[in-house]
Amino acid sequence: MTKTYKLGVIGLGEGRSIMSAALQSSRWSLEAVCDLNEELCRAREEEFGFSGWTTNYNDLLQNPEIDVIAIYTPDQLHFTHIKQALEAGKHVVCTKPVLPSLDDAAELLRLSASTDRKLFVGQSTRFFEPMLHQRRDYEAGKHGALSVVESHYITDGRWFLDKGWSKQKGFSWMYGFMIHAVDMVRWYLPDVSEVTGYALTSDNTKEHGMDAWDSLRFLLRNPSGQIAQIAGDYTLPTLGQHVEPSIACVLRGTKGSSRSEYSNLQYHSHFAGEAPVTQTFEEKNDYYFRFEGKSHHAGEYQNYIEYFADCLDSGKTPLPDAGEAIRTLGLMLAMERSASIGGQPVKIDDVLKEFNIG
Ligand SMILES: NC(=O)c1ccc[n+]([C@@H]2O[C@H](COP(=O)([O-])OP(=O)(O)OC[C@H]3O[C@@H](n4cnc5c(N)ncnc54)[C@H](O)[C@@H]3O)[C@@H](O)[C@H]2O)c1
Repeated sequence: MTKTYKLGVIGLGEGRSIMSAALQSSRWSLEAVCDLNEELCRAREEEFGFSGWTTNYNDLLQNPEIDVIAIYTPDQLHFTHIKQALEAGKHVVCTKPVLPSLDDAAELLRLSASTDRKLFVGQSTRFFEPMLHQRRDYEAGKHGALSVVESHYITDGRWFLDKGWSKQKGFSWMYGFMIHAVDMVRWYLPDVSEVTGYALTSDNTKEHGMDAWDSLRFLLRNPSGQIAQIAGDYTLPTLGQHVEPSIACVLRGTKGSSRSEYSNLQYHSHFAGEAPVTQTFEEKNDYYFRFEGKSHHAGEYQNYIEYFADCLDSGKTPLPDAGEAIRTLGLMLAMERSASIGGQPVKIDDVLKEFNIG
């Protein structure tokens, strides 16, 4: 049975994309939105012709009409906002990263295990057109036995440092940006267990009075020996999207290889017995990128809330859930550890155990 779910949104910066997604989806009805910034609420009202806004989160929590709360507040507030929503009996979709560190991870797992409400983490890149096609080919076995996954997110993100909360405790390029590339690797190698890598802080980050690593390289493996690499650069001038798409995921297997690319909407594949193919999904450009060029990508959000609606209909667990998202955070902490001890290998389970996560 399909139902139309009623959505409340908190945080109307990136939350703009989910507003657009809900307003264009037949599976969702936008019920109310919230931001502390009244001016932004008015701007969104004008942009979407949607007037149901409030500056008080409690108005969403106490609204009996709302089935699901979508959280797009700064990373450091996610735990509080998720907890309040689950305790108010709402299902939750929270943007990445579900948490800015593992500090509250055990508590979040306990909370999500103690309720029948669903918590879905919006790892948007999984829901981009070329990545969806690559996943279908992988699930159809077209790559044969997978040997290697290569993933990167490389962009000049210095504009992000103008946001006040980027300077607060908890911000890192890894949790804010690189997580998309990390999630791609964990999507294909969920049991990745060990990592080694290096990272540095360039002068371009130091100029902003920050010491977050902005240039990072990692190698990973799982117990069966499959390997992966992840790269990220965040404050260096790039070669441009036409030369290197900001995000890409490469799969290499015994029967074929494929590469899904962000921004230019391309998917390249070469499978045994077939000619190499490049698919371009240009006709979907306006669906994925609805405002401000390619910096917002509402189509992914529409894909993921429609997937979430299907999961709510069927009772299936939407993925990534809290457990999967927290394992990704554990992997990122292991990456940080390895880089801070000169590239020595670090095991993800060792990191998770420190936070009482089995
Ligand atoms: N691809 C993606 O999935 C993607 C892309 C960009 C951002 N994000 C995530 O979205 C989140 C928001 O990022 P952003 O770039 O929009 O940041 P932002 O600072 O532009 O927006 C955050 C908004 O939350 C509001 N807010 C803060 N505290 C609040 C509260 N207590 N009640 C109501 N509103 C409150 C602020 O007023 C602000 O408008 C972050 O977690 C970020 O990592 C995800």
